[in-house]
Amino acid sequence: MTRIITAAALSAAAVLGACANPEAEPDLPSGRALFMENCASCHGADGRGDGPMARSLPRAPADLTRLRVAGKPFPAVHVMSYIDGYFRQDDLDPVMPEFSRVFTGPTLHVDTGDGLLTPTPQPLVALSEYLETIQEG
Ligand code: HEC
Repeated sequence: MTRIITAAALSAAAVLGACANPEAEPDLPSGRALFMENCASCHGADGRGDGPMARSLPRAPADLTRLRVAGKPFPAVHVMSYIDGYFRQDDLDPVMPEFSRVFTGPTLHVDTGDGLLTPTPQPLVALSEYLETIQEG
């Protein structure tokens, strides 16, 4: 029992540390840099869904400045799952690539709302945090 509590405390400390000191790992690319490199071609540099590739796609890329529904928290888990490819609408032929093989590396423990801290690749967390900053809703 003591061991479990210790593990949970360590995980919580890791999350707090990651939030309190985002510059701690200078080698990790920022969420904005990851976005520009991997997403802007379709979603546009400002995330509105009007990137240079958008017109040639069978379906328009989502406007990523409107992911948050007014009055609700930013849907970080949905966003990270979507990017990863873990969550997709089965009835749609996916146009957006899955990034689960691209975004690997160090993991952060993220509270996904079920009370459990889920190890999540740092690039997914960084992207989600960046997208949260560009919300207009
Ligand atoms: C090849 C074009 C393309 C690239 C590259 C791309 N996307 Fe997408 N994205 C789409 C399209 C098209 C959709 C609309 C749903 C679908 O067809 O898959 C979408 C949907 C999404 C959604 C779901 C929005 C919602 O309303 O639920 C998110 C979040 C998202 N993209 C984020 C990203 C991020 C972050 C990246 C970069 C890591 C990225 N996308 C790269 C084309 C792309």
